[in-house]
Amino acid sequence: MLDRRTLLNTSAAATAVSAVSAPHKVTSKDALNNLQHDIEPRGSLPEGRVEKLPELDMESRLDFAQAFRKWSLRDFGRNNLKQLYGILEDQNIDPTNSPPIEKLLEIIGDDPNIYTAMRCKTTVQQIMWKNLVDGFHAHKDLYLAELASAEGQGPGTLELNPTLNIPEYAKHEIHIQPGGYIGDPLGGYVYHYGVNVFTLDLNSEDIFHRSLADIVPVPEDGKMNSFLDLGTGIAQLPLAMKERFPNADIWGIDTAAPMLRYGHMRAVELGLDINLCQRLAEDTQFESNSFDVITAYILFHEVPTEDTRKILSEVKRILRPGGVFFPVDFKTYDQRPPSANSRLNQWWDHVYNNEVWTEEYRDSNFSELMREAGLIVNENAPTLSKNFWNSLMATKKA
Ligand SMILES: C[S@@+](CC[C@H](N)C(=O)[O-])C[C@H]1O[C@@H](n2cnc3c(N)ncnc32)[C@H](O)[C@@H]1O
Repeated sequence: MLDRRTLLNTSAAATAVSAVSAPHKVTSKDALNNLQHDIEPRGSLPEGRVEKLPELDMESRLDFAQAFRKWSLRDFGRNNLKQLYGILEDQNIDPTNSPPIEKLLEIIGDDPNIYTAMRCKTTVQQIMWKNLVDGFHAHKDLYLAELASAEGQGPGTLELNPTLNIPEYAKHEIHIQPGGYIGDPLGGYVYHYGVNVFTLDLNSEDIFHRSLADIVPVPEDGKMNSFLDLGTGIAQLPLAMKERFPNADIWGIDTAAPMLRYGHMRAVELGLDINLCQRLAEDTQFESNSFDVITAYILFHEVPTEDTRKILSEVKRILRPGGVFFPVDFKTYDQRPPSANSRLNQWWDHVYNNEVWTEEYRDSNFSELMREAGLIVNENAPTLSKNFWNSLMATKKA
């Protein structure tokens, strides 16, 4: 990761930022007043949950990246799909049931339409990350001060562990995000806005995580006093769960300090009492039988199967009898064999978008892994999309 700090003239940056001001809304005004370094140069999005990007130019460039992604997936993508399916049908191959990836790549050869469409996906990611990294790092000292200012404040707590032994598998520049989750101190800011572009604005104002929190299943006995989110990232799910269950103890853990620091800052701003810790999902340090509900949203496709086994056995240990485990992730191939289009896109993500473990994850049988860990599996869990997500949950024998 480039250290852009040396390129900054921080006092000029501070003047530029403070010169542009706009009203902002947050849930707790008192919490905001305590945040001495909260910069919000252009105010917040309409609901007041998410700050606008620091400069209009940055926002426009991101809008372009999002439109480009939409076009490459939808309009251009549709033409590409016809091309791909045409090639397969010419060879009497059913495109809705993909041949193995090696065979598929051999059949496609060097078809320029298909490769251009795929290349667009990578290019748009690169444009998106560069815009965000450059934009936030242009005011790096201010954002670091904002994070530091929130650190000693509540509501909620933040526990960082600079000596945590982060596993090798979690150190990649995942999704080609510069610095990945752990290598850029402003990684939380970059991730929050970047993922919204990636999901084509689906998560504006955290709407996706709020919808997800609404469907998180609770134990049959109705007791829901303690909740943990594994691989919580910037803690969007714990924040939404605190809104749904204001009296519950809400926890989130993650390996990545930049993500957790940003999540904690947002909890302070929103006035939501959640606890975030830099810990490993395979070694959570919580007492046995601690939690009523445990979730993990899009964690497991980023973890090797061997480590998934360790995490699942830790889940079994810290879930209380009758408690619910709700891991939301992509469908594995045993749940739905991929079409040629999905298979090609998943391979592309693995090779060019640095989704290092996703192929191994898709080839695994996640229900079976949960059973092996001693959990009771239900394959008809609530889901926000039956076609897309895995619809799995599990319980610990009461
Ligand atoms: C795709 S992100 C998902 C983040 C979050 N759940 C969300 O809703 O956006 C995966 C997260 O898992 C974290 N992670 C990866 N391996 C982990 C582990 N062994 N223990 C805890 N967190 C881990 C990463 O740092 C990253 O923040």
